Amino acid sequence: MSVTAVIGLQWGDEAKGKIVDLLTDQHEIVVRYLGGNNAGHTVKFDGQTYKLSLLPAGILRPGVQSVIANGVVINPKALLEEMKSITDRGLPIGENLIISDRGHVIFPYHHAEEAIFEASRGDSKIGTTMRGIGTCYRDKIGRAHAIRVGDFVRPAVLRKRLEEIVPYKNQILKCLDPNFKPFEVQALYDEYMGYADQLRPRVVDTTTFLHKALRDKKSILFEGAQGSLLDIDHGTFPYVTSSNASACGIQSGSGVPSRAIDRIIGVVKAYTTRVGGGPCPTELLDEIGQHIRDEGHEYGTVTGRPRRCGWLDTVATKYGANLAGVDCIAVMLLDVLGKLDELKICEAYEIDGERTTDFPSHVDDLAKAKPVYRTLPGWKKDITGVRRMADFPKEARAYLDSVSELVGAPVEIVSVGPDREQTVLS
Ligand code: IMP
Repeated sequence: MSVTAVIGLQWGDEAKGKIVDLLTDQHEIVVRYLGGNNAGHTVKFDGQTYKLSLLPAGILRPGVQSVIANGVVINPKALLEEMKSITDRGLPIGENLIISDRGHVIFPYHHAEEAIFEASRGDSKIGTTMRGIGTCYRDKIGRAHAIRVGDFVRPAVLRKRLEEIVPYKNQILKCLDPNFKPFEVQALYDEYMGYADQLRPRVVDTTTFLHKALRDKKSILFEGAQGSLLDIDHGTFPYVTSSNASACGIQSGSGVPSRAIDRIIGVVKAYTTRVGGGPCPTELLDEIGQHIRDEGHEYGTVTGRPRRCGWLDTVATKYGANLAGVDCIAVMLLDVLGKLDELKICEAYEIDGERTTDFPSHVDDLAKAKPVYRTLPGWKKDITGVRRMADFPKEARAYLDSVSELVGAPVEIVSVGPDREQTVLS
């Protein structure tokens, strides 16, 4: 048996989907345990591209059980559309997908609230994905206005909860936006009952399911979403997502104890990207940043927004690795750097004249951080055909050695292109 977790060590978009996809054939169960349809995972194989958002990557491998666990916030309309997009392409979804009755449900008032809250921040917008993620989690923590999946699939409970919640939401939204058009309980009930009728057979207690799977020594893969630096507690608050996007979220988001996890793989892009607001010390606002964006196709899978690009920041990445306690790292998109004459890796920050390798806990200190760079020669070669570590040009190997040294974990996987095949294992 093996229980593995794949965790992004940066600000999300580390190409975790590819690593998860590669590992799914070695695992019987794949678990998504946080976030919602703010996430976007791209998986390419056999000349096909699949874009997943809420569905675990296990859905692309027949025979693998996919689990949407309790930590996920679910937009049922988006989930059903995504399921249809997969079944339309000939991949069946039957009993291989189960959904936790403890998950929380996103309603249209969550989108309306998010639009108002984001606008209220003026120039310091968080830059959210506008999927109602943060406002749904806010209701979960607040309890009074939350609707769990277990409520949503019980018609009488759903109606009662909507009758309690919707008038309150309407009142608040009307105060915040005089042009707001109130939500109607009956219309929401009818719409959501339509989704509930389709999803009900999949709704189970996934915590008990996973505990039984552990007893039965099944192999389980935890599929992280977003990235460690977007973690609500440990990330660059308030420019974060509303859940524990570091490895800290596995226990609360699935009910599986951390001692059950055998191996944690930290996923790192060979450079840095970030979408949305918040400081990003190594961001490049010049032609090199644009070159990386173009070569890496760095535009959001979910929102299409251009990603902010910069050199690899190992102060930030090492912090993510420490939060996860990684066993090894996977370096993604190394090929993207192949045309540059020289490469830089941030190995420390200078903050108020002091050099540090500790990641600051306050976002204002991070905003002041000046990267201290190590400069390495580029390899100036196409490495997309490399399949063995020994076949990398010596400059690429030196780059990987620096990443390993500065992040503090061995590089065991390197990705040199989007396809399943374009992967080098140590
Ligand atoms: P939210 O998750 O929509 O509330 O957005 C909060 C912040 O997290 C924003 O800066 C988003 O751009 C960022 N974010 C959310 N999901 C992802 C993701 O999957 N990849 C990268 N950034 C994300």
